[in-house]
Amino acid sequence: MAELLDLFVFLIPIYVANSSPVVLGGGAPLDLGATLQDGKRLLGEGKTIRGFVGGTLAGAVAGGLAAMLYRLPFFVDARMQFVAAFVLAFGTLAGDALGSFIKRRFGVGSGRPFFLDTIMFLVVAMALVYPLALPNLYDPLNLAFFAGLTLILHPMTNMLANKAGLKNVPW
Ligand code: CTP
Ligand code: MG
Repeated sequence: MAELLDLFVFLIPIYVANSSPVVLGGGAPLDLGATLQDGKRLLGEGKTIRGFVGGTLAGAVAGGLAAMLYRLPFFVDARMQFVAAFVLAFGTLAGDALGSFIKRRFGVGSGRPFFLDTIMFLVVAMALVYPLALPNLYDPLNLAFFAGLTLILHPMTNMLANKAGLKNVPW
C-alpha cells in the first residue's frame, strides 16, 4: 500500500468534484428533460449542467493545485498528475450521472437512496484515469482503502450537508 498521505491527496479531485455540485448545481438539468421509453427521465432533475461543469472544474482546480504542491507516486511526472486531476474530476461527475441513469432504469426516484450512490463515481473516475496512471495506483490495498474510506465518508458528509441545510435529505 502507498503512503497514507499519497492516498488522501489522490482523492482530492474526486471528493471535491463529488461534493461541490450540491452548492454549485441548479438550473437546467443535464438530460434537458428527456424521458426514455420506460417513461422515466434519462437522468432526472438531480443532475444539472451547472453541477456537472462546476463540479468538474472545482475538482480539477483542487487536484491541479495539489499537483503543483505535492507529487504523487502514481503518475510519471507532475504534468501527468495535473492532467489526471481533470480526468478524475470529470470521471467523478460522469460516474455520478451514470449512477443516476441506472437508478432511473430501476425506477428509483431522484434523491432516493441507492447502493450505487456511494461508489459509482469512484469506480468510473478510477477507470477513466487508468491510461494516465502508473500500475502501482491499482494495488488492491489502495483500491480497498479508496472504497472503504468512500463508503464511510459518503454517508457522513451527506448527513453533515443535510444538517448544514445544503441538502434536503440526510443521504
Ligand atoms: N447536483 C447537481 N448536478 C449534478 C450532481 C448533483 O446539481 N451533476 C446537485 C443537485 O442539486 C442534487 C444534489 O447536488 O440534488 C445532490 O446530488 P445527488 O445526491 O448526486 O443527486 P440526487 O438529487 O440524489 O439525484 P439522483 O437520484 O439522480 O442521484
Ligand atoms: Mg442523492
